[in-house]
Amino acid sequence: MVIPISDGYRTAADPAAAAARLLTSTGVAIMSSLDLTRSLGAGREAWARFARHWEDLAPDPYAAELGVQRQRRYGQYVLRDGAWRLLPNDAFAQPENSNPLYIGKNRDFEPLTDAFAEDPLQQSLMGVLARVAAALDDAAEWDVKVHPFRVQSVAGSDGRPAPEGLHRDGVTLVSSLLIGRRNALGGQSSVCDVDGRPLLTATLDEPGTLLLGDDRHTLHDVSPIRPIDNSEPAQRDVLVITFASR
Ligand SMILES: [Fe+2]
Repeated sequence: MVIPISDGYRTAADPAAAAARLLTSTGVAIMSSLDLTRSLGAGREAWARFARHWEDLAPDPYAAELGVQRQRRYGQYVLRDGAWRLLPNDAFAQPENSNPLYIGKNRDFEPLTDAFAEDPLQQSLMGVLARVAAALDDAAEWDVKVHPFRVQSVAGSDGRPAPEGLHRDGVTLVSSLLIGRRNALGGQSSVCDVDGRPLLTATLDEPGTLLLGDDRHTLHDVSPIRPIDNSEPAQRDVLVITFASR
């Protein structure tokens, strides 16, 4: 006897597939921390270890020119036939039709640490994202860019996670994973369609929450963060990973 599996059952069993379906139909989706944790097979210790990589980032001199305190690293992979290849460290060039601040300007960032690149949680996260990207485009080869960020702000200054304002990244899939927030107000994510109609507004506040966007059909922005307690800086750690079909 064949027992039909309802869509609801499938959603519960495979949150990444459910998120991919939502993404293809609406252009945006959020995976809760619980759903992502289940998809990654990660435990509390794995998340704690992963978050420690954000204590080992390097200052972003280009953001500093705009008065933004941001730390980051950068890595680029090629995914082909299920095989990942980490490319040698190279300048990050913003694609055309994307972030207006940096088009045509190559930026040099410190590479991902070996510990980060080899972290099992990072590797399983890229596997989940590859499945989601495959739902958007049947690409033979993916150009995957990995950006761990920390944005900070002190009393009286806005910490702008997205100094460029509403923008697209010029890719196929854009994802933003909240790693942690400390003493921070704000940091609200918004996604709209290309005509500016709002599709989603959400504050990623629970570590492990993943925002997914179809970058071909949407624009995104994040509001500034400010300290709750003015005697300490506000801090927001995220991991942005983009997939572009080649
Ligand atoms: Fe972006």
